[in-house]
Amino acid sequence: MMIEKLYNTGDLSDDELKMLITSDGDSVSEQLAMYADKVRRQHYGDKVFLRGLIEISSYCKNDCLYCGIRRGNKNAQRYRLDREQIMSAAENGYKLGFRTFVMQGGEDAYYTDELLCEIIAELKDRYPDCAVTLSLGERTYESYKKLREAGADRYLLRHEAADCQLYKKLHPAEMALDNRVKCLYNLRELGYQVGAGFMVGAPFQTVENIIADLRFLQELRPQMIGIGPFIPHHDTPFANEKGGTLELTLRLLGIIRLMFPKVLLPATTALGTISPIGRELGLKTGCNVVMPNLSPVDVRKKYDLYDNKICTGEEAAECRSCLQRRIESAGYTVAVERGDAV
Ligand code: 5AD
Ligand code: FES
Repeated sequence: MMIEKLYNTGDLSDDELKMLITSDGDSVSEQLAMYADKVRRQHYGDKVFLRGLIEISSYCKNDCLYCGIRRGNKNAQRYRLDREQIMSAAENGYKLGFRTFVMQGGEDAYYTDELLCEIIAELKDRYPDCAVTLSLGERTYESYKKLREAGADRYLLRHEAADCQLYKKLHPAEMALDNRVKCLYNLRELGYQVGAGFMVGAPFQTVENIIADLRFLQELRPQMIGIGPFIPHHDTPFANEKGGTLELTLRLLGIIRLMFPKVLLPATTALGTISPIGRELGLKTGCNVVMPNLSPVDVRKKYDLYDNKICTGEEAAECRSCLQRRIESAGYTVAVERGDAV
């Protein structure tokens, strides 16, 4: 009943959302996946877009309580990729068929606007048929403007928590939700395709908080929404907290597909980390993006946001073919194209 209403109207009341999020039972999950898959196929067919993720730096000036590369983690192994290393990761990725490069990293002052603009311009010059996505945290309007003018197409900045009390519990005192939201609106104004999102099952997160996240996303209307389970990292203050579940993450992915029919929705690495078939289940519940790791093999273990992250071993070079097999066996095809929002 509720799922049909969500499918038909793209929305539910807070009470209805709460019921849908909390009701358990395989039949609810199955029905939701069925409708979510139907909607993704209406807009994107069976295509899955690949994004080559280049994790450029594990240095970060922030101290987010959940994150393994927070500055307060003295055990974190730090590295940063220089321009040549980034270009060679992209070259490798292009050959493998990636048409989007995502440069992601902690907030690291080494990456000045000048340096980033050079790298972005070189990427766009060498690979004019590719999209460049940035995921480098909070920067000033002027900085986002320069990066956009240098050719960056998209920006991923999860809002993390739309409820300001929850946001405070997950972040150090010097960070504020207002600033993050401001960044997201700045990015949008500058013409970036924007991605927002949050972790599922973060410490202290309530169903009401999740509904606030969905309402925030309805206001922002981002082209991309990234959600994945919270996974505790052993060297953070949340080491002993419970992680987010597969079931709740899938439930929310399905709901998001129905609320945002055309959104680009990744089956995240975190989802693949909590279950060996997590990403496949994500694809079958409305996801249409996968972001395999393109970082040099020797740094992958060091971009350690949460415990047991997959694809960090020596076999990581096989990610592309392994993923293709997985995507096809789930009933989808890998799209070799930029994969912009429709
Ligand atoms: N578990 C799951 N996701 C995490 N992220 C950071 N730390 C964790 C964790 N412990 C997510 C954040 C961030 C994105 C890059 O990774 O939501 O925005
Ligand atoms: Fe990384 Fe298969 S997806 S080895």
